[in-house]
Amino acid sequence: MSKLATAEIFAARRPAYPGTERYAYLDVAARGLISVGVRGAIDAYLDHRMSEGGDKAWMFSLAEDSRLRFAELIGASVDEISLTKNISEGINAFGTALPWQAGENVVVCQALEHPANIFPWQNLALQRGVEVKVVRPVGGRVPLDQVIDAIDARTRLVTVSTVSFAPGFRFPVSELSRHCRPLGVRVLVDAAQSAGILHTDVEALGVDGFAASTQKGLLGLYGSGFLYVRRALADTLAPVYLSRAGVHIAAEHEAASGDPDAFGYALGARRFDVGNFNFVGAVAVRQSLEEIAALGTRAIEARVCSLAQRLAEGLCAVGVPVFGGPSCADRAHIVAIGESLSEEHDSVGDEMLLALNARLNAAHVRHTIRRGMLRLSLHLYNNEDDVDRVVEVARDFMASKSRRPANVGAGT
Ligand SMILES: Cc1ncc(COP(=O)(O)O)c(C=O)c1O
Repeated sequence: MSKLATAEIFAARRPAYPGTERYAYLDVAARGLISVGVRGAIDAYLDHRMSEGGDKAWMFSLAEDSRLRFAELIGASVDEISLTKNISEGINAFGTALPWQAGENVVVCQALEHPANIFPWQNLALQRGVEVKVVRPVGGRVPLDQVIDAIDARTRLVTVSTVSFAPGFRFPVSELSRHCRPLGVRVLVDAAQSAGILHTDVEALGVDGFAASTQKGLLGLYGSGFLYVRRALADTLAPVYLSRAGVHIAAEHEAASGDPDAFGYALGARRFDVGNFNFVGAVAVRQSLEEIAALGTRAIEARVCSLAQRLAEGLCAVGVPVFGGPSCADRAHIVAIGESLSEEHDSVGDEMLLALNARLNAAHVRHTIRRGMLRLSLHLYNNEDDVDRVVEVARDFMASKSRRPANVGAGT
């Protein structure tokens, strides 16, 4: 399809996201915008609950629909999907179910991971004697070669984000998996920053586990997510939390317990389901995934990455420091402004960045500060105008900076 035709298709979708009217909303890395359709689906569900009380079988069918759509989104089968409340829950469920022996290790680049993919391993270190082998980042990236070097005979798992939350580079997951699979080393990814934005095929990625939540690229609500576990592995794992939802019982009713002394785990990743679901979250994401599927994740990835590229080039052209420069092969939909990663999560020490941050806020450009940088992140509802607006604000800002006398702000 031509670039023009693609732009038209995405332009037609933009009014479905009213948040784009007021803002250049470049903040999906924090949370995505909700569409009119998603809001309508939530309203219809709540209206039904309010006036009818709600039928449980119908509610479960909504949750199952969302499971099916998660599976379709990433090229998995339904039994490989567990419905979770967020990434932390998915990572903990996967991590605690592995048959760790004390002294075995997990390889992780803690400096670039979100806490959701740090503390579960520190806890396993404390509780089960697992060693956390830390790889240092290089140039704001998780270095594949050093991750591979860190793997030894006692490595059970490597875990990494598909795209880091800052500065937002992609990690070559399939290359890692190709190395790990023959060694029997498991690969678990935190897909917070890629799910719903970058086309995903878990078979091609070769991962054993994949955790996502729905408030970012999946354009749903907080408190809802999923965990994919490769079927052959899932069937060997014993969940630490177990509820009726994770048990295979011939009896149909969700509250029937069958013979408790003879229970078996539910098939595949379903064993990680715990109790009742977040039905309203399921309703929301069921709708948003239908909308995402209508556009197609390949088209979304291509469109969004090309907008991010336009943004990085535009910012560099007006003299703003873009981390990684105007073009780098591993940039996805996130553009980080700044020269170095700081330890601080959501503050920025650099005065120039602080001033630019204020200008962007004043111009209704939604973005976030992460790791000492200004993080701009795009999704299917963004367009060239959003990008150009940001570049224009940056151009004015840089021009005003260069007009400023050298002694202003120097302090007395
Ligand atoms: C890489 C990454 N992982 C995880 C999360 C969130 O984890 P959870 O869904 O457990 O709150 C975020 C952002 O909120 C993130 O950027």
